Amino acid sequence: MTSTVADIGLIGLAVMGQNLALNIADHGYTIAVFNRNPDRMRQFIAHCAQHEPSSERVIGFESLADFVKAIKRPRKIVLLVKAGEATDATIDALLPYLERGDIIIDGGNALWTDTIRREKRLSELGFAFIGSGVSGGETGARFGPSLMPSGTLEAWKQLEPIWRDIACKVDPVTGKPIEGAVPGKPVQGGVPCTAYIGTNGAGHYVKMVHNGIEYIDMQLICEAYWLMKNLLGMNAEEMGDVFALWNEAELSSFLIEITADILRQKDPETGAPIVDSILDTAGQKGTGQWTAANALALGIPANAIAEAVFARSLSALKEERVAASQVLQGPPIRLESDRAKWIQAIRDALYCSKICAYAQGFQLMAEAQKEYDWTLDFGSIAQIWRGGCIIRARFLQKITDAYARDPGLKNLMLDDYFRDALHKGQQNWREVVALAARNGIPVPAFGSALAYFDGYRSARLPANLLQAQRDYFGAHTYERVDRPRGQFFHLDWSGDRRQSMT
Ligand code: 6PG
Repeated sequence: MTSTVADIGLIGLAVMGQNLALNIADHGYTIAVFNRNPDRMRQFIAHCAQHEPSSERVIGFESLADFVKAIKRPRKIVLLVKAGEATDATIDALLPYLERGDIIIDGGNALWTDTIRREKRLSELGFAFIGSGVSGGETGARFGPSLMPSGTLEAWKQLEPIWRDIACKVDPVTGKPIEGAVPGKPVQGGVPCTAYIGTNGAGHYVKMVHNGIEYIDMQLICEAYWLMKNLLGMNAEEMGDVFALWNEAELSSFLIEITADILRQKDPETGAPIVDSILDTAGQKGTGQWTAANALALGIPANAIAEAVFARSLSALKEERVAASQVLQGPPIRLESDRAKWIQAIRDALYCSKICAYAQGFQLMAEAQKEYDWTLDFGSIAQIWRGGCIIRARFLQKITDAYARDPGLKNLMLDDYFRDALHKGQQNWREVVALAARNGIPVPAFGSALAYFDGYRSARLPANLLQAQRDYFGAHTYERVDRPRGQFFHLDWSGDRRQSMT
């Protein structure tokens, strides 16, 4: 007979599942684990027995029925399976064994609308469903991820102690992640990078936007690298030093830090910088594309985020690009000799573009909360992104501060701190985009972020002409600058050219 010993259960022992299970065990919880293919579970348990100080708190099961029975009620069962059909299949397999009040927690990168659907279905059956964004990759899962949970408050209260324990901790004063966790010895104290996000799909939505921002953050860094390489003639090591330096100040972030590391890394096969041996085609699993598609659907101009997705798509057309490079010509590239000046300019372009990218991500969330009836706390979201997740950065504290100053902030760019940063950096930003264009170097993220900044700060745009065109060919009507909003007019463009109010 199976005894009820586990505080929590986890299904799905791929990399993220294994690491999250160990993190939970390291915090003193007994965890039951299950994997569809039992071999992987056995291997994991064998590995734990040999190498993991918390191994006695990880218990493997081959039967789903025994696994469920072993968990204390109300049961908390974390799913870390492939997002999509596998999640539904796992839930269906679990259902016969669950009892009223049990809680399923989906820690995958689920599409938020799937989470809304699953939460509704399970709550109708008497179970709770929490969709929790989990960010931080393998190391984050093991030693402290950023966790973005949503569902009913009641269910969250059950999960909260464990989620707070296993989340990354940041220093309450500096906001910096507290380092130093090792297997069996998690960090003590600090502010956990988790907070209740809202009902049903809110957590997965916020995680998706995190990933959209991750895409643009990465693309901006790549453009900075590409400009330094091609316009300043810098080698990988030199660029690594620049990124390391940038990591000391305002731009300090996990992605800048790993970029410095990557650029200094040698290819074990050739001894040359590894970055030069890596094929220039980027993969993507879909969360960036979901973010961009949702921005289009909600009518929010997250153009820089979308550009980052398109930049990956364009990179993937490797063979076509190679062929086109023989046919389509641009200007010759002219190396710039004033390195120091341009490095500073590229830094400013990167920082200003980053502000725009985050402004877009937060605007998107602000619109989505209306659509889905969530009440998102943007200061808190920025706070739980300060540590554990891929976009963790010093910058996030500034966003938290901005929302503390004005919880109803319409756009991050309007906050005093960010406005001043944009004003300070914009001349350099413009020069970098212009220089790139003159030399035929693509900087879609720098350029689209700049267009967003310029568009957003324009009291007037050429959409008057556009609206006239719409009215001309489709009688779509227009509003007038000299009449109240909401009054619509149509001009008989091809007939008597009179205007009528519609
Ligand atoms: C994280 C990451 C993680 C993963 C994404 C991005 O927050 O830990 O975002 O979820 O890296 O799946 O993947 P792609 O670049 O493959 O789309």
